[in-house]
Amino acid sequence: MRKVLVVALGGSLALASSALAFHDAGVAHCNGCHTMHNSQDGLLVDPDSPGGNDWLLVDATPSDVCLSCHATGLGAVFGSDPLAPPTERGGGNFAFLKEDNLNDGHGGASNPIGGDAAGHNVNAPSLAQAADGTLGVAPGGTFPAAEMGCTSCHDPHGNESFRLLYGAGAVVQDGVATFLKPAPTAVGLSLFGPGESNTNHTAYQGGMSNWCGNCHGDFHNNTADLVHPSGQAMGGTIAGIYNRYNGTEDQAGAVQATAYLAAVPFDDAANLTNSTAGPTGSSQVMCLSCHRAHASSAPDAGRWDFSVTLLHEDGDESGSYEIPDPYASVNQRSLCNKCHNKDANDHIAP
Ligand code: HEC
Ligand code: HEC
Ligand code: HEC
Ligand code: HEC
Ligand code: HEC
Ligand code: HEC
Repeated sequence: MRKVLVVALGGSLALASSALAFHDAGVAHCNGCHTMHNSQDGLLVDPDSPGGNDWLLVDATPSDVCLSCHATGLGAVFGSDPLAPPTERGGGNFAFLKEDNLNDGHGGASNPIGGDAAGHNVNAPSLAQAADGTLGVAPGGTFPAAEMGCTSCHDPHGNESFRLLYGAGAVVQDGVATFLKPAPTAVGLSLFGPGESNTNHTAYQGGMSNWCGNCHGDFHNNTADLVHPSGQAMGGTIAGIYNRYNGTEDQAGAVQATAYLAAVPFDDAANLTNSTAGPTGSSQVMCLSCHRAHASSAPDAGRWDFSVTLLHEDGDESGSYEIPDPYASVNQRSLCNKCHNKDANDHIAP
């Protein structure tokens, strides 16, 4: 219905953009992803699978199909070089799965942590990617690592959710899992505009921790356990610290109206993609306050490397990409400080 209305009102404008609106919050044209006979112009559509493949897809696995459009274009979620990742638009980048070492802790050069730990693995033979070699299931839950791919989280047939993420009741990948929690409420950046900054960022509005919990259970999110809270109100004290902290070198220099730091986001119904306001006591710390959804250049898909003392040391031991320091200071310490300033009295290099 909505689509008909847009065409009627928008006329040629809708026509001009239709080439780009592939998913269009609904089911895209089937042969973008499926082939009925694995044959066109007398040639195999998927030459790697002469006998056809599961789900009659145009490439070997669901992730291969998605990446045929999204690897280095249309959001570029799987860049070709982990040392020069494409523009960040919120999700992080699967390029870091290709790293041979992410360990920037002490002695990291001789104790490599491989790219599997950069985040969610995807089974995509076209890019030489397979399931995680270390984790067999989602920590905190039961979702099998062997099934992990783009369509474990995104609905290939489209829906009205943020980034086409599956919501409550969705039966994922022919019954591997049934999601119990709704899709998060958020607004993402355009795949074609500028990348993430403090004034242009995903607007996380609510429900992210619950959504990750579809696979990770109560991981990090159970008041009875002695684990870090997520999906819980920050409270006035922590919100106040966030709103004052402007980096190790300026620990009381921020004000609430401009305190937002894209590197350490939080859920709040009032967030917009151009919001600059810091949190209130009822804003929530959530999974993506500390993690990227896809992968990052740090173990455990960290938004910053949890194992370095000074952010500029990131990448030194491992030779991996240095995650940009939002404060651009040689003295900058862990971004845990945005919520828990423990920098006070730290020695600052002259
Ligand atoms: C963006 C890619 C994409 C498009 C477009 C697409 N599909 Fe699919 N489809 C998939 C993938 C990937 C699977 C494999 C199941 C999974 O990974 O969840 C699948 C599975 C299926 C299945 C079997 C499983 C099920 O959900 O019943 C059917 C039937 C199907 N698609 C029909 C269609 C039809 C009909 C269209 C067009 C109206 C279409 N698809 C468009 C990607 C797509
Ligand atoms: C034929 C090329 C093509 C394929 C294959 C394809 N996409 Fe897309 N995708 C697009 C285009 C074009 C856009 C941007 C316009 C739009 O939203 O329709 C897009 C947008 C998206 C978005 C952002 C949507 C939003 O609302 O912000 C997501 C998420 C996405 N695709 C996931 C997938 C997944 C998962 C698959 C595999 C099942 C897939 N795509 C396969 C072309 C493709
Ligand atoms: C569809 C199920 C599913 C959803 C939804 C999901 N995860 Fe995962 N997650 C997994 C599985 C399976 C693994 C282990 C295998 C892997 O890393 O690919 C994993 C691993 C991880 C890891 C460890 C990565 C590593 O290799 O050390 C982190 C961190 C993580 N998930 C965070 C999140 C966050 C944050 C969200 C929400 C944005 C989320 N997950 C949503 C299934 C899921
Ligand atoms: C563990 C769940 C999960 C998996 C697996 C996953 N995504 Fe996403 N994806 C998300 C979430 C959550 C976001 C929103 C991230 C944000 O804005 O913080 C997202 C964002 C996106 C975007 C928007 C651009 C961006 O960088 O934020 C695209 C395009 C996309 N995903 C495509 C893919 C493709 C293609 C794959 C497979 C190679 C994939 N996703 C695998 C959860 C997932
Ligand atoms: C305050 C920051 C923070 C928040 C919030 C957070 N995490 Fe973590 N997460 C970490 C750190 C740091 C690690 C590294 C391991 C550790 O410290 O226990 C980690 C590790 C993980 C791992 C890897 C565990 C393993 O065994 O390899 C997964 C999976 C994960 N987090 C998922 C989540 C999910 C899901 C949420 C939301 C429900 C979440 N995290 C919220 C900081 C956070
Ligand atoms: C977005 C804000 C935010 C970020 C970022 C954050 N935390 Fe927290 N943290 C909280 C909140 C809120 C609590 C609960 C505090 C309370 O109830 O007093 C908490 C509690 C804690 C506690 C328990 C404190 C106590 O009094 O019991 C520890 C330890 C902790 N965080 C460590 C960390 C570490 C380490 C990091 C970085 C990996 C981190 N936090 C990042 C918001 C945050």
